[in-house]
Amino acid sequence: MKIVVVPDYRALSQKAAEMVLRVLSLKPDSVFALPTGNTPIGLYEELVKISDQEKADLSKIKAFALDEYVGVPPEDEHSFGFFLRQRLIDKIQLQDRFDHLRGNAIDLFRECSRYEEAIKAAGGIDMAILGLGVNGHIAFNEPGTPFASRTHVVDLAVTTRDSNTSYFPDGFCIPDRGISMGIGTILAARQIMVLANGKSKAKIVSDIVRLKPTTKIPATALKTHDSVMLIVDEEAASQLDNI
Ligand code: PGA
Repeated sequence: MKIVVVPDYRALSQKAAEMVLRVLSLKPDSVFALPTGNTPIGLYEELVKISDQEKADLSKIKAFALDEYVGVPPEDEHSFGFFLRQRLIDKIQLQDRFDHLRGNAIDLFRECSRYEEAIKAAGGIDMAILGLGVNGHIAFNEPGTPFASRTHVVDLAVTTRDSNTSYFPDGFCIPDRGISMGIGTILAARQIMVLANGKSKAKIVSDIVRLKPTTKIPATALKTHDSVMLIVDEEAASQLDNI
């Protein structure tokens, strides 16, 4: 795992955008897995800017959302699909090249298989971009998730529901289940880029760097992959020694 420490959130977002452009320069129709949350907002703003200023061609990208809440329809403003469309997809006109999990599917297990098939049909994921939960979750893969898991329905951890409450000042009640690419689905990506900023991520970042892979901390699974870049700002790196 390559660790890159940058001064602050702005630099993290710019570095992440630079890495996306690097992938696109080799393969303009690259397939990305995209996270929701506070962490990638700056990256998405950078990508929109790059697209608006025509500094790179983002029009051939194919994108898959990493996860979704169960029971929340895609048109609902609380859904992750909505978040990604609003922050990035609509702004760079990628609507026809974006797929996301339907949290309101009648048959969720079928939806999981559909997603795996869609990723396969797209040629697999070139770069999975991940945020990091304070408990080490990646996408909605909570502690205890097997490393070989594929897209599945998950029970959300209390810490995840608590953290995500802050996204919705309107009092939206966070569902207790999610649907998520599995750890195995993420590990099948050719490259993985993990982003973490702020003091709240310092402990988990240090745990991931120090500890051997363990299902107790899902992000440690990334240490079994040979092309992972972890980009952290100085606050998130504040508990790392000797790097
Ligand atoms: P955050 O969430 O980007 O809002 O910190 C990350 C996550 O829970 O995966």
